[in-house]
Amino acid sequence: MVLPMPKVHRLRNYMALGSIFVLLGLGWNIQSVLFTSGSEQAMTTSQDVYTTVLIWHWPFHHPLNISGDVCLDLYNIKNCKLTDNRDKLNLSDVVVFHHRELNEKGHYMPTDPRNPAQMWVWANLESPFHTKNLGKWNNVFNWTLTYREDSDIFMPYGQLVPKLHMQFNTSAKTSLLTWAVSNYQQTQKRVQFFKEFSKYLNVDVYGKASKKPLCSSCLLPTISRYYFYLALENSVHKDYITEKLWKNSFLAGSVPVVLGPPRENYEKFIPADSFIHVSDFASAKDLAEFLKSMNIEHYERYFRWRQEYDVKIYNDWRERFCLICSRCPHLPKDKVYSNLEGWFMGNS
Ligand SMILES: *[C@@H]1O[C@H](CO)[C@@H](O)[C@H](O)[C@H]1NC(C)=O
Ligand SMILES: *[C@@H]1O[C@H](CO)[C@@H](O)[C@H](O)[C@H]1NC(C)=O
Ligand SMILES: *[C@@H]1O[C@H](CO)[C@@H](O)[C@H](O)[C@H]1NC(C)=O
Ligand SMILES: *[C@@H]1O[C@H](CO)[C@@H](O)[C@H](O)[C@H]1NC(C)=O
Repeated sequence: MVLPMPKVHRLRNYMALGSIFVLLGLGWNIQSVLFTSGSEQAMTTSQDVYTTVLIWHWPFHHPLNISGDVCLDLYNIKNCKLTDNRDKLNLSDVVVFHHRELNEKGHYMPTDPRNPAQMWVWANLESPFHTKNLGKWNNVFNWTLTYREDSDIFMPYGQLVPKLHMQFNTSAKTSLLTWAVSNYQQTQKRVQFFKEFSKYLNVDVYGKASKKPLCSSCLLPTISRYYFYLALENSVHKDYITEKLWKNSFLAGSVPVVLGPPRENYEKFIPADSFIHVSDFASAKDLAEFLKSMNIEHYERYFRWRQEYDVKIYNDWRERFCLICSRCPHLPKDKVYSNLEGWFMGNS
């Protein structure tokens, strides 16, 4: 083991390295500005015309408090009204439908005739593999809200944003590698990888699958003690990069070893030197050797991007719905997904 354990004082203060890395430059910029930030939005929207977004049903039947001007108060997004009152259907500019509940027994849609100017949004953050019965929803929706970058409302699990506070602490590392997993299925690509990989390197596995569950407030502190985190997606699809990377790795301050779409796909969203891709190696054994033989100077390179960027996580449905208002002015006003299933399932 080359990386120092159990105590690593040098990892505690990346700021000392800051000036060096600022001079070197990171050679990478956020390629697409995903959303105007909340504050820009508040400044640039001058007309006092509200966009009203009707949440037809709450994702996972989990209603959230949307009283008051929630978009302004929580996210600094102006002129955006969220409602979950179906009586407001005719007063709503946008109606948003979360996919999971569309297929439940007893679920019903607004009755015809449909206001031709009203835009219906299909919202879904699951991968195609976990998205059932899409065929019957062709020709219904005008816009999509998904993790796919080519959605009308692109809604990633997280994003890098320019750094505001020049500070980053990571706790001392005491162990090499961990993985938290609840859904462990033999057919998953990640499980096949893990079975081979763990022959060569010990992985501390947490979560339901290993009968070592972590409480939600224990997750990040636990992971942050590890140098590396296995950010293995449960299925492999274009742009499907979830909280396993954004939260469990980046927020915890552990370097992600990713299994998911190809490296180039990750590099659309994050710097090339912020992660390790399992496909960078010819075999699981090579990857294990690489991690085992890494020294601290090499390890620290995976943190350079943190001099310029912060990690922003999206995990509140209210923010996602408020962001519909931010995107609205830039979206096509005459659009229909005549083949929603083809769009989402194909080319993914
Ligand atoms: C909902 O939010 C409003 C405004 O922030 C607050 O005044 C109210 O107490 C909240 N209601 C509940 C039930 O939490
Ligand atoms: C809502 O609008 C539709 C279509 O414009 C109309 O047919 C319907 O009567 C309206 N419903 C109410 C409750 O106003
Ligand atoms: C980071 O370090 C600063 C100064 O030592 C401290 O005030 C702050 O609470 C720390 N933040 C985290 C997230 O640990
Ligand atoms: C929205 O989709 C519906 C259903 O396909 C369609 O009838 C309507 O014309 C679309 N609205 C706009 C403004 O394109």
